[in-house]
Amino acid sequence: MSIIIEEVTPQHNRKSFDCGVAELNQLLQQQARQKTVKNIAKTYVACQASAPTTIMGYHTLTGYSVTTPPSHKDYKKYPHPLSAVKLARLAVDHSQQGRHLGERLLIDAIYRTVMVAQQISAIGLFVDPMTPELVPFYQQYDFLPVISDDHSHLEMWLPIQTCIDIASTCHE
Ligand SMILES: CC(C)(COP(=O)(O)OP(=O)(O)OC[C@H]1O[C@@H](n2cnc3c(N)ncnc32)[C@H](O)[C@@H]1OP(=O)(O)O)[C@@H](O)C(=O)NCCC(=O)NCCS
Repeated sequence: MSIIIEEVTPQHNRKSFDCGVAELNQLLQQQARQKTVKNIAKTYVACQASAPTTIMGYHTLTGYSVTTPPSHKDYKKYPHPLSAVKLARLAVDHSQQGRHLGERLLIDAIYRTVMVAQQISAIGLFVDPMTPELVPFYQQYDFLPVISDDHSHLEMWLPIQTCIDIASTCHE
């Protein structure tokens, strides 16, 4: 199956997308396009080349300003804040779940993070898993927990060198 991942446009059918999480469906339908046009948050959709208007999955990226992950040797001595990229949304239509499209979208987000790091700066890719059950999904790609005093806030990050390693492996 040949898959295209591209910026969301008015041609994409956002209404038919259903990942099983109403909030993520609504954000795609009601906010993703305008926020992309206004450069507030960029949404990228995955479609089959043979059905280019049907959205099978999407991710949304934004710029992010981080309190330095205190345990990381590279950033300990620098003043806050440092720039990074946030994976604000990741969702796959229920008809496509379990077929490695989530992984494909995550790798696309990692690849775009590397491009930001090369052109501007980014210490890594950050994400707030929606539920604790999603932590293992990110852990398998080497996302680390962000150590914070706020134990109610679940946040993980992938340091930029790991992003570079993953991106180079996937584009070999
Ligand atoms: C979470 C989600 C994006 C995963 O996408 P997907 O296409 O179904 O997942 P993939 O097929 O790419 O899975 C890749 C690997 O992660 C594993 N995985 C998938 N979902 C997982 C989960 N919730 N927890 C742990 N591991 C998971 C798969 O088993 C697979 O591992 P394998 O290679 O050993 O088989 C998708 O299920 C989804 O959209 N869920 C609803 C919305 C949501 O919760 N989004 C996350 C917001 S933080």
